[in-house]
Amino acid sequence: MNLTKSKIKKVNSLYIHIPFCSKICPYCDFVKIIDNEQFKKRYVDEIIKDISFLTANEAKFLTIYIGGGTPSVLNNDELIKLLSALKPLLKDDYEFTIEVNPESLTVEKLKIFKEYGVNRISIGIQSFNKEILKEINRDFNIDYFKLINLVKKYIDNINVDLIYGLPSQNLNILKEDLDNFIKLDINHISTYSLILEKGTEFYLKGVNEVSDEISREYYDYILNYLRSNGFKRYEVSNFAKPGFESRHNLTYRKDEEYLAIGVGASGYIDHYRYKNSASLTKYLKGERDKELDEISFNDDLEYYFICNLRLEDGFNLDEFKNKFHFDFLVKYNDKINKLMSRGLVKINGRNFSCTDEGIILLDIVLRELI
Ligand SMILES: C[S@@+](CC[C@H](N)C(=O)[O-])C[C@H]1O[C@@H](n2cnc3c(N)ncnc32)[C@H](O)[C@@H]1O
Ligand code: SF4
Repeated sequence: MNLTKSKIKKVNSLYIHIPFCSKICPYCDFVKIIDNEQFKKRYVDEIIKDISFLTANEAKFLTIYIGGGTPSVLNNDELIKLLSALKPLLKDDYEFTIEVNPESLTVEKLKIFKEYGVNRISIGIQSFNKEILKEINRDFNIDYFKLINLVKKYIDNINVDLIYGLPSQNLNILKEDLDNFIKLDINHISTYSLILEKGTEFYLKGVNEVSDEISREYYDYILNYLRSNGFKRYEVSNFAKPGFESRHNLTYRKDEEYLAIGVGASGYIDHYRYKNSASLTKYLKGERDKELDEISFNDDLEYYFICNLRLEDGFNLDEFKNKFHFDFLVKYNDKINKLMSRGLVKINGRNFSCTDEGIILLDIVLRELI
């Protein structure tokens, strides 16, 4: 993979991974380590080297997303260093998101975000229920209403994360959580159904995921409740008020190219998917050790279906033809008819998408198409 200036200049999105967290959640399998002052400083310096490479190649992005881990555990100086290196990489009309956890967000950090152009914030609230928060090793003494009112003074495009399907949760707790999330009066909610990942504390303790029936009951409740409160489900797990869909998130979901910087971060450019080594030791020594995967035509097609059919609006048939050089409706005619007769897919104008039932039964739709 040869990252030339002309290839880099075509990419519209950049992801930056910050792996540090103040506490480790018992279900998390992301690339993260416990906060460490010395590593953090060196890590930011390494990240800046990769950003400088992009700057030297005149990269400009429509969306930048700093995720983690917990980016808000960086101290003020580290944030200023990172954000001031990123700011010149933004195009006009950009979306610049940072993920934060409630316990490490301060007024000073909000001021820094605003000053350096961050215009979207994603806050890992997860739940209002103290027992649930204790169960997942999170701070349970924070007044989220106060916190969100404070954030709104600096940034008005706000996402909050909600988790469901935890061992001590039930439908009533989920209903209370959703009521509270709505009362926060924010414009984007990402919902996460607990996935039991190998090697995590929950996995080692023998925690089970909820059954498919319960999971479906929770999901149906979330979908109907958020829809009736003015949110559109634009992607299986992401809900937004009109106009507040995350453009960065849509880059991934529409299977468009993006670059990624940081330990364990993955990118996609010029028919290659790459993943940086997940070893912080290597990263701090300047070794990126990228795993490279060349994407064939068939891989590309499969991935396109997997990503786009998670979207409420699916994909545009003309864009499909431009990308793959054949007519989807002609080549997949029999399969489409079969899926339509089961009420799993639909065609709306020039868009092909799953129905509500099809999104729930996405595996069946994908098995038919792939
Ligand atoms: C990796 S975190 C990064 C942001 C931030 N540190 C936080 O915890 O909110 C992004 C989201 O993934 C969710 N998540 C992590 N592991 C998960 C799992 N095994 N199942 C479901 N959601 C998970 C977290 O709860 C969080 O909302
Ligand atoms: S869920 Fe977020 S806070 Fe918890 S360990 Fe993972 S990245 Fe860190």
